[in-house]
Amino acid sequence: MTRFTGRTALVTGAGSGIGRAVALAFAAEGAQVVVAGRRREPLTQTVRLIEEAGGKALAVTADVTDATESRALVEAAVDRFGSLDVAVNNAGVFRGGQPVAELSSADWREQLDINVTGVFLALRAEIRQMRSQPSGGTIVNIASTFGAHTRAPGATAYAATKAAVSALTRGAALDHIHEGVRINAVSPGPVDTPMSLRPGETEADRADRVRAALPLGRVSSTSEIAAAVLYLASDDASSVVGTDLVVDSGATA
Ligand SMILES: NC(=O)c1ccc[n+]([C@@H]2O[C@H](COP(=O)([O-])OP(=O)(O)OC[C@H]3O[C@@H](n4cnc5c(N)ncnc54)[C@H](OP(=O)(O)O)[C@@H]3O)[C@@H](O)[C@H]2O)c1
Repeated sequence: MTRFTGRTALVTGAGSGIGRAVALAFAAEGAQVVVAGRRREPLTQTVRLIEEAGGKALAVTADVTDATESRALVEAAVDRFGSLDVAVNNAGVFRGGQPVAELSSADWREQLDINVTGVFLALRAEIRQMRSQPSGGTIVNIASTFGAHTRAPGATAYAATKAAVSALTRGAALDHIHEGVRINAVSPGPVDTPMSLRPGETEADRADRVRAALPLGRVSSTSEIAAAVLYLASDDASSVVGTDLVVDSGATA
């Protein structure tokens, strides 16, 4: 038996980066995993990786900014595996670089739509399902240190959306813990995915940049973020409610 044996875990944005690592980690600990995103091919690849390792997974294409698709995503998980025990709202985008005066309305709206409304719509559908189950459920939202924990020039819109995810997490946790739904967030600092590369920067350039800038001297790996997510989603964290766990190589220590 492992921590998630027999449980069903849903991960949004699971075709790449942190979401894929989280999906693989849940599967490795016994969960059947529903992987979601807008593009089918990356999701199919995540399912293939899980199945090759002996796990069970289902790919569902869904745009989390659409309430009907978010609801259908939860229904697909329950139809296939019988319940929804864990959900990770990880889908998100970063459209950065410009100071506020130069930020386009389109970039502002896209980040708000996906990072905030997308998390809200998925969260709402997940909570409605979980509170109807005798065993409830646990949810982890992926926020960011950019937001509630720190800010940086050129990342203001993104930070505003992620601060909203931190607040949404804590408020929803208070709203629903009495119904058996336990909600928390992980706020990563820079992680080893293309999202933390500056324009034109290679991975080697990034390694040079963060060696002095981050106390740990390196970015977090996707599996280090996954480990924090699995902890919060597991019974090991059964009294952890509405926390926003920073995993950031010491950046905001
Ligand atoms: N990497 C970092 O340094 C870092 C730091 C702090 C926080 N984060 C957060 O961690 C999360 C994952 O980031 P990542 O680095 O792994 O980036 P990523 O590889 O770009 O992953 C984002 C995923 O979200 C999916 N997605 C985007 N919009 C969506 C939508 N409307 N509906 C459904 N899925 C959608 C994308 O797939 P499709 O395009 O196919 O939909 C993609 O698989 C994000 O929320 C990000 O803000 C990342």
